[in-house]
Amino acid sequence: MAKKIHLTGFMLFAPAPHMIMSWIYPREKIKYQWYEIEYWEHIAKTLERGKFDMFFFADGWAGGTSPIGVRYAIQFPNHDPVSLVAYLAAVVKKLAFAVTMSTTFYPPYMLTRKLSTLDHITKGRIGWNIVCSLGSAEARNFGMDSLPPHDERYDRADEYMEVCYKLWDSWDDDALLMDMERGIFADPNKIHPVNFRGKWHRVDGPMTVIPSPQRRPYLFQAGSSERGREFAARHAECIFASAIGVKGMRAFCEDMAARAERHGRNPNDIKIIWGAQPLVASSQSEAREKMHEIRARIPLEASLSLMAGHFGLDLSKVDIDQPVGDIDVPGTKGMLDAYRKANPNITFREIAKTYLSGSDDNPMVGTPQQVADCMQYLVEEGGGDGFQITPAYYAPDYFDDLVNQLAPVLQSRGALRTEYAGRTLRDYMTRG
Ligand SMILES: Cc1cc2nc3c(=O)[nH]c(=O)nc-3n(C[C@H](O)[C@H](O)[C@H](O)COP(=O)(O)O)c2cc1C
Repeated sequence: MAKKIHLTGFMLFAPAPHMIMSWIYPREKIKYQWYEIEYWEHIAKTLERGKFDMFFFADGWAGGTSPIGVRYAIQFPNHDPVSLVAYLAAVVKKLAFAVTMSTTFYPPYMLTRKLSTLDHITKGRIGWNIVCSLGSAEARNFGMDSLPPHDERYDRADEYMEVCYKLWDSWDDDALLMDMERGIFADPNKIHPVNFRGKWHRVDGPMTVIPSPQRRPYLFQAGSSERGREFAARHAECIFASAIGVKGMRAFCEDMAARAERHGRNPNDIKIIWGAQPLVASSQSEAREKMHEIRARIPLEASLSLMAGHFGLDLSKVDIDQPVGDIDVPGTKGMLDAYRKANPNITFREIAKTYLSGSDDNPMVGTPQQVADCMQYLVEEGGGDGFQITPAYYAPDYFDDLVNQLAPVLQSRGALRTEYAGRTLRDYMTRG
């Protein structure tokens, strides 16, 4: 029996989510702009038609901080996806959603309250991508001079999660009575203060939101450094990862399984989904040509600017033609490590050529059958559970093309669901 593949639509509430310059598209084909609600409605309906698990929103709290960022729309502008999801949940009734929220910037009380409210609004179709943020430009929007050091951000996030769990558990299952005969709304003995006093967080509680369908959102994590993996092994129900090649994927899965066991968890309870950028067309050469055209639009300086933001490094001060070596970065170490592992002599210029845009020989660029073969091969040989798909061009059309062409092939092979099983995001991810 074919292994079931989980699929997510992976975007930012932005003109060009991850593939730089993907906002460029023939003007006459643009039905709605990215800042119009119809654009998002269209994509959400399409993803649901393709039986994707969810619509997953990355997020960031700075951007456009350099003229290059503004000129090319590098993850800028960037609207608030949490508000968007509250609306979209009423447009589609099955598709789930995941939002990225930062443990460094949102106070835990505010975050738990928002996510529990969203869990009600979506009837249990909400996930949280736990990030602790990347750059000082973001920190300076929240009254800080810079971010706490890399590993300390995770230490704080561990404590933050303790607060969240306590808040989400502060109501007993039978606390809510709504007993109209006796005139008792809720039992005060069954709602518990939290009284948390940690190194970084102080929260009295209890939660002001009644227990939601999933009680706590489905938890994602995407950091892949040593410290990030430890955090994921403790908290994540699903890891969003970006290993390179089958060998890298397998090594990542084995490493995470070992860590999960050390934390007393069953490795099968942690799903892994891989970043991917498929492109389908009626022949492989047509698909490759299309992808080549899209990638050729990306100026080197734009790619370097995106990397600088992610790695937290001023690349104008680095010789981009020298091997990266063991340079330490304050931002996302895990991504850089994946490149270094695949090629120990890699330079920043070489990384820039494929950064978040894939390579010219990306095996996920081809006919729907070839892309399906590749996806099945990767999850069977490399491991993991599915793919986070980021659009290569105008997202409403991109996802239409995938759902119309790729989804039926995967479904005919038994590798993609034909109906949603269960009601909540956690059901979808755990029942297949
Ligand atoms: C595939 C991937 C996706 C990520 N998405 C986001 C995001 O949307 N917003 C954000 O602030 N950080 C994002 N991050 C950053 C991580 O959550 C983490 O804070 C950062 O990578 C530093 O941790 P690391 O060194 O353990 O990777 C992402 C990281 C990876 C690897």
